[in-house]
Amino acid sequence: MSSNRGVVYIEPGKVEVQEIADPTMAAPDGRKLEHGVILKVVSTNICGSDQHMVRGRTTAPAGLVLGHEITGEVIEVGSDVEMLNVGDIVSVPFNVACGRCRCCKEQDTGVCLTVNPDRAGGAYGYVDMGGWVGGQARYVMVPYADFNLLKFPDRDQALDKITDLTMLSDILPTGFHGAVKAGVGVGSTVYVAGAGPVGLAAAASAQILGAAVVMIGDFNKERLQHAANMGFVPIDLSKSDRLGEMIAEITGSPEVDAAIDAVGFEARGHSGGEQPAIVLNQMMDITRVAGNIGIPGLYVTEDPGAVDEAAKVGSLSLRFGQGWAKAQSFHTGQTPVLKYNRQLMQAILHDRLPIAKIVNAQVISLEDAVRGYEEFDHGAAKKFVLDPHGMLKAS
Ligand SMILES: NC(=O)c1ccc[n+]([C@@H]2O[C@H](COP(=O)([O-])OP(=O)(O)OC[C@H]3O[C@@H](n4cnc5c(N)ncnc54)[C@H](O)[C@@H]3O)[C@@H](O)[C@H]2O)c1
Ligand SMILES: [Zn+2]
Ligand SMILES: [Zn+2]
Repeated sequence: MSSNRGVVYIEPGKVEVQEIADPTMAAPDGRKLEHGVILKVVSTNICGSDQHMVRGRTTAPAGLVLGHEITGEVIEVGSDVEMLNVGDIVSVPFNVACGRCRCCKEQDTGVCLTVNPDRAGGAYGYVDMGGWVGGQARYVMVPYADFNLLKFPDRDQALDKITDLTMLSDILPTGFHGAVKAGVGVGSTVYVAGAGPVGLAAAASAQILGAAVVMIGDFNKERLQHAANMGFVPIDLSKSDRLGEMIAEITGSPEVDAAIDAVGFEARGHSGGEQPAIVLNQMMDITRVAGNIGIPGLYVTEDPGAVDEAAKVGSLSLRFGQGWAKAQSFHTGQTPVLKYNRQLMQAILHDRLPIAKIVNAQVISLEDAVRGYEEFDHGAAKKFVLDPHGMLKAS
């Protein structure tokens, strides 16, 4: 009998917590690995990226074990692992990266060339990302462990701050990457589209990078209220489709220095229906000439539930001429978490970045994951953190 349980994707709208296989030191194609470790999962978060799969908006297969936001305790070490020991508490970047290819050598670990036979980039528990088993589970295997894992300096301190540190596996580096790539610096005016956890992490990142004002747009009133409580300026998009005018009411100018798309391809328009290109088009409108646009929001190459035929293969109706005329820069893709997680860990450990509070982290048990998925899908102003071994409440 297996000692492992995990969150499994069943069909659109449905996940279940089931018994799953215990992890082994093997790649998805069955090759034996000596550079991996097995982790007892200390915390693992539900992400908006999981929701795209669970809503049936990707080609994720039934039976996929979900979960790419993992923090764990090392319980078994492969014979090629040199820098980690049993008992270490580690953050797992959601990217699976080999540390050996050209992209990894250049810190572009979001598009590692060797861990996914179908395309660049690997991740745990994600469609089209190499088949690495997900970590919304009790146990999980992490390959290339010396390269991938970030070890926390002190076990007790780590467990003390675990609801903050758990955000290092994805959303905090992702929000930070969005802000860095949007060119946020001291005195910047910033617009973040989307008040979900990634939008809030981008807003918090813009703030520590020195932004003068950070505005967040969404339709979800509960999330906007939470963003306002955290010190960001909410923009209720249900009130008007003239985003530039709403920004001008706050800053005096219809254009911002830096814009971050924390929504992605399931973006909604003012009329309520889905308009996958709306955020990208708005970004070009409201970002200054020669400004940068950070796009952590996810865009796909296959979307079975898309509003039109073009969008089913990821073709969107962009007013690209606008961005070209304004000489803007666009930055897309999976976040290379390794580039940022150590610095952001220090910011957390030294009390500079209360990210758990900012994203409203809610700890629930692994067995409660189905409820977490449902509430998050309905737009709760919360970031759900699963606690598979009851270690968080204890800490
Ligand atoms: N690039 C990466 O590495 C990476 C990593 C993590 C997450 N993501 C992506 O980031 C995005 C956000 O993640 P999340 O967990 O915060 O998701 P989420 O679904 O909780 O939040 C998205 C928010 O966008 C809002 N929204 C919809 N249309 C909008 C519009 N036109 N303007 C403004 N807001 C709008 C929704 O109401 C929702 O509150 C997702 O697409 C996710 O897949 C990317
Ligand atoms: Zn994620
Ligand atoms: Zn690589």
